[in-house]
Amino acid sequence: VDVHVSLPPDATDLTGSIYRQLRDAVVAGRLRPGERLPATRDLARQLSVARNTVAVAYDRLAGEGLVVGRVGAGTFVSPDVAGTAAGASPGATSTALVPRAVWATVPEQRVTLRDTPRFDFRPGVPDAAAFPHDVWRRLVSSALRDLGPTSASYQEPAGLAELRAAIARWVATSRGVVADPADVVVTAGAQQAVDLAVRVLVEPGAAVAVEDPGYPLVRHLFTTSGMRVVRVPVDDEGMVVDALTPDVRLVYANPSHQFPLGVTMSLRRRVQLLEWAARVGAAIVEDDYDSEFRYAGRPLDPLHTLDRDGRVLYVGSFSKTLLPSLRLGFVVTPPGLARAFAHARMFTDWHSPAPFQLALARFIDDGHLARHVRAGRLRYGARHDLVERLLTERFAGVLSPIPSIAGLHVTAWFAGGAAELRAALASARRAGVVVASLSQYSRDLPRPGVVVGFGAAPVDRITEGLELLLAHLVAAREHGVPPPTRAG
Ligand SMILES: Cc1ncc(COP(=O)(O)O)c(C=O)c1O
Repeated sequence: VDVHVSLPPDATDLTGSIYRQLRDAVVAGRLRPGERLPATRDLARQLSVARNTVAVAYDRLAGEGLVVGRVGAGTFVSPDVAGTAAGASPGATSTALVPRAVWATVPEQRVTLRDTPRFDFRPGVPDAAAFPHDVWRRLVSSALRDLGPTSASYQEPAGLAELRAAIARWVATSRGVVADPADVVVTAGAQQAVDLAVRVLVEPGAAVAVEDPGYPLVRHLFTTSGMRVVRVPVDDEGMVVDALTPDVRLVYANPSHQFPLGVTMSLRRRVQLLEWAARVGAAIVEDDYDSEFRYAGRPLDPLHTLDRDGRVLYVGSFSKTLLPSLRLGFVVTPPGLARAFAHARMFTDWHSPAPFQLALARFIDDGHLARHVRAGRLRYGARHDLVERLLTERFAGVLSPIPSIAGLHVTAWFAGGAAELRAALASARRAGVVVASLSQYSRDLPRPGVVVGFGAAPVDRITEGLELLLAHLVAAREHGVPPPTRAG
């Protein structure tokens, strides 16, 4: 490959010098995604250094996600390295400040779509039309009035006492989680809860584990804050606990409803995960992000309820039950951690806006949340059943849904190649049907697949939208896009 590494005669930090030159080559786009780096042995010989000097530099690059090693094949520039900040825009190399190399591994995050799609099957979006806007407006304005001058000064970083108590009652009734309000920390969504957990509990640079496929925003949070990320596969019992390595200090998991596969972690795996954490002294962050919406039977209680020695941090979010734009969530911390969490929150952004906190406390206490979730369970349950039935009956031989009993999406494997699926989703998108590809949540999928969200898709639009999707999937298969060797 076209990369020159050289060591000045007086170089002292040989590994650092090799690391920086290769890093800069990746960031500037001289080494492109998928390109192979020279073998450590060859580069070591060329530079007259020990092979381990090169190997350690490669490890550092791998730790930042810039390269990936494949056993027996060599080391390659990570396929995740997107756009390469400096390489993509010619002017960028002339600026004095550039993002740390790891930022080049973060793919573009599309937050909003340019046009509202005709059929919106994006995962993770609740039905904004069903939100009781009038009630919320009334509660926010009375909170503003009642807080008066108090709301002008700083508040308790862990959250207003009213809200922490309301959340403790809410998790007890909705999920069976027993929490002392003193251990509840209000956060700006689940995302901030995970961030605080890592900063309170994990040394910089240590290993943390995520599920693969998994929720990308948490993985990006970990890599960009300098953590070493271990990806753990998921099977039909949930996270494969045997794949966790003993150096892992914190595991992020969705036991109730794995994102995006939708599987529920089996009781056997839950026990195994708790035992593993106790053995190696690790923390478990249980993100129970959408489990209020469950449609069949009695689900397993959260992992938190099985935790006897205080290793599980129970994270919840109001992004699905209310709206993601409110940025409100929480974490129930094991006893003794609340003080550090409150400080971490204070040093980040102090706290969530007081009027919204008070409004939410009253929303919960007055029973609006329970009512809204009950109605949502019926509304989303009807959509869930319809999507699952259509995928099973109409898409037979094309998509096979993974059974799930909760949440706002259904995931399905595609019985074809990754290139066909890419072509089909792109053409469906042009026709107004937006569906996510499973590939955006994983690096190593056994098979390609789709994630069909129904939070934003009214029930009377689902059949038409999915029929249209089916037509595009079938057409892509008939046009015979050659199947590639692995999912992408
Ligand atoms: C796995 C998972 N956790 C959490 C969230 C919500 O995060 P937040 O509370 O930060 O909005 C989502 C949203 O899509 C999610 O998919």
